[in-house]
Amino acid sequence: MSTSPTEPRTAPAIVITGASAGIGRALACEFAKRGWRLGLAARRLDALSALRDELHSQPGSDATQIELLQLDVDDEETVAPRLSMLFSALGTVDVVVVNAGINAFSSVGRGDLATERRILRTNLLGAIATVDAAAAFFMPQRRGHIVAIASVAAKVAVPRQAAYCASKAGLAHYMDSARIELSRHGITVGTILPGFVVTDIMPDIGKYPFAIAADVAARDMARAIIRGQRTAYIPSFPWRWAHPLLNALPTSLWRRLNR
Ligand SMILES: NC(=O)c1ccc[n+]([C@@H]2O[C@H](COP(=O)([O-])OP(=O)(O)OC[C@H]3O[C@@H](n4cnc5c(N)ncnc54)[C@H](OP(=O)(O)O)[C@@H]3O)[C@@H](O)[C@H]2O)c1
Repeated sequence: MSTSPTEPRTAPAIVITGASAGIGRALACEFAKRGWRLGLAARRLDALSALRDELHSQPGSDATQIELLQLDVDDEETVAPRLSMLFSALGTVDVVVVNAGINAFSSVGRGDLATERRILRTNLLGAIATVDAAAAFFMPQRRGHIVAIASVAAKVAVPRQAAYCASKAGLAHYMDSARIELSRHGITVGTILPGFVVTDIMPDIGKYPFAIAADVAARDMARAIIRGQRTAYIPSFPWRWAHPLLNALPTSLWRRLNR
């Protein structure tokens, strides 16, 4: 994000949902290193407090202000009022990262509706509520950048991940519409599509192809966010090139891979 010479010289501020673990936590560490002010949200306030203590005591971490918010994005009605408390505590906010999310295997035709509803509620409705709150905050100031952490699964249909794929495809598409709507308000929109990142989101995720560590992913994501990139596959190789090929795989081959 470039800062114009007329703007006040306070450090830029980023709000990250789902900052208590995994990618969100790694992003917080990455932006702290870069001297950004942080607004961190998640359900586990104790984990956020531990992260804040760690960031304040770490050499090389330059975040001058770290504000915390207990937030459950599944309570859609509370997302805007609670996030506005975090925005107010920070005063100015430059970027909101819509990262909170979950995953679970589910099978079509097996009555996994409760699991599928949970995935769609957090990853799609919770994310939309967060985007909405961020957009409403940014509109009067006529600037701001909103970034959603979707997934390569938004572009590639994966068996036993139908609800997860649908949630991420829905979110990516929502962001595409939001980009057009919000551009007239000076607000920019980015979508990040990670492949496999080693976190607690799924067991054994490190065994999946091209899995990368969360801090490596966060470094690449921070670059894309600061550049204001519209879409970023993380890591770029192989996912940027591989996703159309994976979509072209015949169903019979997917069936064999899924045994
Ligand atoms: N890891 C991957 O390979 C991968 C790949 C593509 C996309 N992604 C996406 O990246 C994002 C982060 O995933 P991750 O891998 O870092 O997972 P993770 O390690 O399990 O972390 C998920 C984060 O989301 C928060 N969260 C979950 N449900 C929430 C809710 N209802 N309200 C508020 N916060 C909630 C969790 O915090 P609390 O439990 O404290 O609330 C946690 O901080 C997700 O959107 C995921 O879909 C991950």
